[in-house]
Amino acid sequence: MNRIDNLIEQMTLEEKAALCIGASAWTTVEVERLGIPSIWVSDGPHGLRKVENEQEITQKSVPATCFPTASCQASTWNTALIKKMGDALAEEAHALNVDVVLGPGANIKRTPLCGRNFEYYSEDPVLSGEMAASLIEGLQGKGVGASLKHFVANNQEYQRFSISAEVDERTLREIYLRSFEIAVKKAKPWTVMCAYNKLNGDYCSEHHELLVEILKEEWGFEGFVVSDWGAVHDRVKALRGGLDLEMPGPQPLRLKALIQAVETGECDVKVLDETVRRLLEIIFKSQEVSGNETFDPDAHHKLAHEIASEGIVLLKNDGLLPLKDQKQIAVIGHSANEPYFQGGGSSHINPIKLDNPLDELQKLAGGAELVFAQGYTDQDMLNQELIDEAVKVAEDAEVALLFIALPSSKESEGYDRPDLDLTQQQINLIQAVAKVQAKTVVILNSGSAITMQPWLDQVSAVLQAWMMGQAGAGAIADVLFGKVNPSGKLAETFPLALEDTPAHINYPGEAGKVRYGEGFFVGYRYYEAKNMPVQFPFGYGLSYTSFEYSNPKVAGKFDDIDGLVVSVDVTNTGKVAGKEVVQVYVHDHQATLTRPYKELKGFAKVDLAPGETKTVTIPLGFRAFAFFHPEHHTWITEDGDFDILIGASSQDIRHVLTTTMTSTLKLPSLLDRESTIKEWLLDPRGAAVIKPLFDQIQAQFAETMGGGEEGIGLDVLAMIGDMPLASVMMWNQSAFPKPVDQIVDEMLEQVHKQG
Ligand code: BGC
Repeated sequence: MNRIDNLIEQMTLEEKAALCIGASAWTTVEVERLGIPSIWVSDGPHGLRKVENEQEITQKSVPATCFPTASCQASTWNTALIKKMGDALAEEAHALNVDVVLGPGANIKRTPLCGRNFEYYSEDPVLSGEMAASLIEGLQGKGVGASLKHFVANNQEYQRFSISAEVDERTLREIYLRSFEIAVKKAKPWTVMCAYNKLNGDYCSEHHELLVEILKEEWGFEGFVVSDWGAVHDRVKALRGGLDLEMPGPQPLRLKALIQAVETGECDVKVLDETVRRLLEIIFKSQEVSGNETFDPDAHHKLAHEIASEGIVLLKNDGLLPLKDQKQIAVIGHSANEPYFQGGGSSHINPIKLDNPLDELQKLAGGAELVFAQGYTDQDMLNQELIDEAVKVAEDAEVALLFIALPSSKESEGYDRPDLDLTQQQINLIQAVAKVQAKTVVILNSGSAITMQPWLDQVSAVLQAWMMGQAGAGAIADVLFGKVNPSGKLAETFPLALEDTPAHINYPGEAGKVRYGEGFFVGYRYYEAKNMPVQFPFGYGLSYTSFEYSNPKVAGKFDDIDGLVVSVDVTNTGKVAGKEVVQVYVHDHQATLTRPYKELKGFAKVDLAPGETKTVTIPLGFRAFAFFHPEHHTWITEDGDFDILIGASSQDIRHVLTTTMTSTLKLPSLLDRESTIKEWLLDPRGAAVIKPLFDQIQAQFAETMGGGEEGIGLDVLAMIGDMPLASVMMWNQSAFPKPVDQIVDEMLEQVHKQG
C-alpha cells in the first residue's frame, strides 16, 4: 500500500471531510497527527497577490513583480518567453511560501465586453491553450503548482456568479473546452479552478460531466479541482460532481453536511476518498521542491520588461516611428505619468517597483525636451481646460505622444465593459491634438480591444501597449525609439464597432441564461464567415522591418494519425533585426458538417537579423484536421483536401498549399429511421443498400410528382432528398410488399451489420 492510501486508511471521516474545505481564505487544513501539512494558494495569474493575513481576501498584498497581463503575454506569441515568466513566478512563490499560484486563465474572449478579458489570452483556443500550457510548465517545472482557471465558459462578468452559459456540445468542445484541454494534456496542471457560472443549467462547481467525465476521466487530469472563491452552493452535490476543494474556508455548516452525507450514505465514502487522494497527492507534491527564500527582483523586472516589449503591438505607422532626432516632444495623457499597468480585482498586484513612462522616455530621448500635459483624469469626465493645455503643448512640439488608458470604470474583474470606446474626453483630446500636430502617436493601455473611430485616420501611429506590467513604461520607450523592433501580434480581433462583434445579439443574456448563439463562430471565425471588415484582424501587427515567406512545403498526401509538417523559409528583407510570428491556418475543402473557413492550428516566432533566412517548421497533428461530431460524440476526421494557409496574420496569407488527407477512422454509420434520403446516399454503406429502392422511388415519383402533365410540378429529388426514407415511401405505400417501417428497419440492419 502506498503512502497516500495508507494515510487515507488512517484518517477519520471528520479529517477527510475537513480536508475538502479550506482552513482559511488561502490555506488548506493541516492534519498534524498524520503529518499532513497545510498548503498556501495565492493569486495569480501575472504576479503574486499574497496577503499576509490568511483570513483576508482583499487586503493589500506583499510586493511582488507585476508582469504584463494575459492579453499582452498572448500578443508575444512567444511560448518560450511565457514559460520563463512561469519560472519567475515560481521563484517568487517559493520566496513567499506559496505552493499554488491561481492561474493562468484559459477562458476564450467571446466578447470584447468581458471585463476580465485582460486576464485571458485570446479568442482562439489553440493560442490560449499553448500560452496557458507554457506558463504552467514554467511554474510547475520549478515545483510550484498552477491552477488553470476558470473552468469553463466564464466569458463575461455580468451575473458571473449565477448565469448559465448555454453552449452546444460542438462549440464547447471546439472552442471553450479546447483551450483547457490543450493546457491540461500538455502541462498537467496540479489544480483546475472551476468557474462561478453555470454551464447548460448546472453550476460548474457541481458539473459531473464537466469535472469528472471530461476533465478527469477523458483528459486524464490527475490533480484536484478547486472552486472559485465562493463558487460552491451545495458542498455535497459539488463533491459528487467532482469538486475536490472548496475555497475559501472554513465552512462549518458545510463540513457538517458533508460528514452527514457520508454517514447516511447519500454520498459514497469512495467519492470522498478519491477526493482526499487527489488532494494529498498535490499537497505532498508541493513539499518536494523547496526553492530559495529570495529571488532577484531586478532580473524579474527585466523579464517583465522583455515580455511587455514583445507583447506591444504596432497597429499603425505611417513612417513616423521609430522616433529620431526630435528636440521637443509633447508627452500628453494621464497615463504617461500614472502608468496603467494592470487591472482591478483578484489579480491586482502590489508591484515591487513601477516604471514611469515620462522617465523612461527621457532616458532614450537623447537631449530632447519632453513637455507634459495631463489631457484627462482617471475619471470618465469632460474637461476642456485639460484639452486646451494639451493642444498648446502639442502645437509647440515636433511630435505628440498621447498616452491613453481606459479608466477602471471601463474594465475590471467583476463587471463588464459598458462599450468598446475610449472616454469622450479621450476621444476629444486625440482629435484636438491631431488637428494641431500632424505627428501624433497614440499609445493605448487597455486590457482588450477598443474601437478607434473616428480618430484612427487622424493620427500617424498607434501602439497597443495593453496592461503592460510594472516595467511596461520602458518597453513603450524602447519601441517608440526603435531600441526594440515591435513583434507583437493581436491575439484578438479589433472590430470596427461593437455591433459587429459575434456575440452582440446574444449578450449579456436574460432570465439567468446567456445563449452562445454564434456557436463556434467566435472572433475571426465569425468575421470571416460574414465577410465583414474589421479594424485590425487577429494575428496582425507591424514591424520596423519586412519579412518574406518563400519555399513553403507540405507533403501532398498524409493520414490523420501521422499528421503533417509544414515548413516555410522566412527572410528578414529590411534593415533592422526583427521577430516574425508565422501562423498556420487550416481550411477544410469539404466536410459533412459546417466548419469555420479557417482555423489557427500552429505558429512559431522566429528572430532574424537583416538579410537572414530561417526555415520554420510547424507540425500539425490529428486535431488540426478533426472536428467534434455531436452525433458521434467524438473528434472525427474525414478524407479529403485541405488548404494549409501560411501567413503573417489571419488576413495576410502568404502561401496556400493543398494537400490530401486520408482518415484512418472507421466510424459507425449514423443512419437511423429519421435519416433523410440524401443522408442515405451520402453514407457509402447506406448508398449501397438503398440504391435499388431509391431507383424505384425516383421512377414512381417522377410520374406522379414531376413537372409533366400528370404531376404536381415539383423537382422530385429536391423535394424528397431531405425527407426521411420511410416518409417518402409512405406516400406510395401500396407499391411496397411490406409495411414501409419494416423495410427501412431491415435496410438499417444491413447497414449496421457492416460495423
Ligand atoms: C476570482 C479568481 C481568484 C479568486 C481568489 C475570484 O473572485 O474569480 O480568479 O483566483 O477570486 O482571489
